[in-house]
Amino acid sequence: MYGLVSMQVPAHAASCDGLKMRCPLCRVLIALTLLCNALLLYYTWHLQFRSVGRQGPQTPLTPGITVVVREFRTFEHGLSDLNQSFLRSRPSLSLLIASDTLPYPPVPGLRILKLHPSPDQPSVASRLESYIRTRLVALVPDGTSLNPPDLLDRMARGLREAPPGVRIVAAAAGPPLHCLHLNVSLKKWTASYRSALKSETCGAVSGTAVLLLRSRDLFELPFPLARPLHSTVFIQAALRGWGVQIVEGVSFPRTPFPATDHGRWKADLAERQEEASTMRALGVRLVQAVDGGERLFGCSKETPRCFGTVVGETPEYLYEGRWTPPCCLRALRDTVRHVIKLLEASGVRYWLEGGSLLGAARHGDIIPWDYDVDLGIYLEDVVLSAELRGAQGGSLVDSEGYVWERAVEGDFFRVQYSQSNHLHVDLWPFYPRDGVMTRDSWTGHPQDVEFPERFLQPLQTLSFAGGLAQAPNNHIQLLRMKFGERAIEEPEYPNPALLRMGGR
Ligand SMILES: *[C@@H]1O[C@H](CO)[C@@H](O)[C@H](O)[C@H]1NC(C)=O
Ligand SMILES: *[C@@H]1O[C@H](CO)[C@@H](O)[C@H](O)[C@H]1NC(C)=O
Repeated sequence: MYGLVSMQVPAHAASCDGLKMRCPLCRVLIALTLLCNALLLYYTWHLQFRSVGRQGPQTPLTPGITVVVREFRTFEHGLSDLNQSFLRSRPSLSLLIASDTLPYPPVPGLRILKLHPSPDQPSVASRLESYIRTRLVALVPDGTSLNPPDLLDRMARGLREAPPGVRIVAAAAGPPLHCLHLNVSLKKWTASYRSALKSETCGAVSGTAVLLLRSRDLFELPFPLARPLHSTVFIQAALRGWGVQIVEGVSFPRTPFPATDHGRWKADLAERQEEASTMRALGVRLVQAVDGGERLFGCSKETPRCFGTVVGETPEYLYEGRWTPPCCLRALRDTVRHVIKLLEASGVRYWLEGGSLLGAARHGDIIPWDYDVDLGIYLEDVVLSAELRGAQGGSLVDSEGYVWERAVEGDFFRVQYSQSNHLHVDLWPFYPRDGVMTRDSWTGHPQDVEFPERFLQPLQTLSFAGGLAQAPNNHIQLLRMKFGERAIEEPEYPNPALLRMGGR
């Protein structure tokens, strides 16, 4: 628009140029044109400026700190005391209670941000930016007191003086904090904590803490106030490479809430549920704690499988740049170990097939992006197994809840993790013909081909999925024959025509 306006000036001026001396009217015309252009210019500039102001979060933030209390329980809390302690020592502070639902019974005289949107309210009503107008924000757990009154100022100084990578400072609210290293891999759905080395910047802290950060940084997080608040903030910070620093010598007095046994029991229960739903929302399905403990969030025997029907051998998670969710890998390992135990008990000869043999050759486990396990069996041995006999007639649920059935997709058996969770091990029956292992029907996958029976005479034992499994002898040679010369050294996704490793 600017271009258009400025071009009009010389155009009009040129048409009048020759007449300038002779025609006084021309001067008036030129003056009017210039005036019009100036007005037009101002008008477009004004429009643009206004639209920028409307779109962006451009309203400037003011100096100061907003204290946000998110970690409290609506049914038993110390919000009134916290309010008194913080606002009496520092009347200039702004206090905001952030909650999914309103505290009950109600506490008048608190400013509350109700995070759960209400269908009759504008969307900004549940947005953090509408409530926080200061440059800094302190995330304060319930039960904390501001004593001495300069604790937050010392944290603010700590943040100002911190090295550039540090975006969050933490101070103890109760016992001292420990500096942790946090590694988040979305590809592996994993958040992994360990004690940080002396030389390392913290990625998280353990212990109850007050966190202070710039409001703009908090606004940048897609899950700014999801519970459990601290781990959610730390995980998002880790993905942005933000460091956390403990402000030494600053410690807030704190009375833990809820204080009653019943209240704590309710709070613990709620916290476990919140953690599970938040971690799923973040795409974290495995948390490895500092003490080595692991918490899995995802599918179980009671839930459906955590990915849908696989099309073109390429499960949906691969398109999102992710590998098999940890709970699924674990369930697959459990299933294959269970199947192997029963096959061996009934004397059915089996061996690792296809991608499972490839995984065993590479690293003694299921390939980290694979979605099922393949075993070959001797067709003539099927009668030896009560489970396979049962599967032949339809389907059979064994004593541990695994489902054995004849696959609807073709001439093979399938053992599912459970009736609702269809993670599975496929059993492909082969029979020998003139020294070659063959089948009556094939999947059409390039690696699904006949092979000499000598690879099974004898079988060998390989590590697989946390146990031992039977496998063809000379398995490297067999794999090169089936998958190509470089298949073991150069991993590739199952269907490179659809999706290649390292990009489409
Ligand atoms: C919070 O503190 C302010 C200032 O001291 C006071 O006006 C208000 O009533 C307090 N609210 C509650 C619920 O204690
Ligand atoms: C983080 O985790 C990934 C995947 O588990 C691993 O490959 C990487 O080495 C880890 N990085 C650090 C710094 O520990």
